[in-house]
Amino acid sequence: MIITLCNQKGGAGKTTLTLLLALALEDVGRRVAIIDRDPQATCSRAIANLNANGLSKIEILSAPADHDVTFIDTAPRLDEVLGRSINESSRVLLVSSPSPADLWSTQESRDFVLKHLAEGAKTAVLFNSVVKGARISRDLEVLANHIQLPTLRNCIVRRQCYQYAILQGWGALRPQEREEIKSAALEIGTM
Ligand SMILES: Nc1ncnc2c1ncn2[C@@H]1O[C@H](COP(=O)(O)OP(=O)(O)OP(=O)(O)O)[C@@H](O)[C@H]1O
Ligand SMILES: [Mg+2]
Repeated sequence: MIITLCNQKGGAGKTTLTLLLALALEDVGRRVAIIDRDPQATCSRAIANLNANGLSKIEILSAPADHDVTFIDTAPRLDEVLGRSINESSRVLLVSSPSPADLWSTQESRDFVLKHLAEGAKTAVLFNSVVKGARISRDLEVLANHIQLPTLRNCIVRRQCYQYAILQGWGALRPQEREEIKSAALEIGTM
């Protein structure tokens, strides 16, 4: 399975969720790799650091190999590199906050994804930085309908430990937080 995370909007959480979802699937025994197609190279840097400290064995690749799951982290741009990444993926996740303003600015990314999506591949919105208990967190499906895309049932809450995972890996998360990420990661396979 090849999974691209994208959104032309910067700071939506593409890199953070690539790392977290990859760590979750590694934790359940999958062989996981990441292709970092963002010149900022945050993801490769984080993985190199985690691997050097014995906190992960996720491989950084430049092209897909034979791993169970390969994530592609992408830059906040609708360019040829993203088009190619989408086209070689079986799953494409549009990462967005649930803010209606952010979702509107995700519409152009959605059109781009639909244009490049391979036959049989699936796409959905993965909501990130959801504030638990906030009214908006109860309206996620309605909000996703606005941009006419299916949404993953599991969403990712705004939590400081997710920022620390970039340095400390899976160990930065408590059991409930691990479950949250794991549920989303496993749902991707059932889209
Ligand atoms: N669920 C979350 N909870 C708390 N902080 C988060 C969460 N998701 C992302 N962040 C923080 O938001 C910021 C932007 O996240 P990230 O770098 O993953 O976004 P991005 O989409 O990859 O950005 P870019 O478009 O620049 O590549 C980072 O500081 C990250 O730690
Ligand atoms: Mg990024």
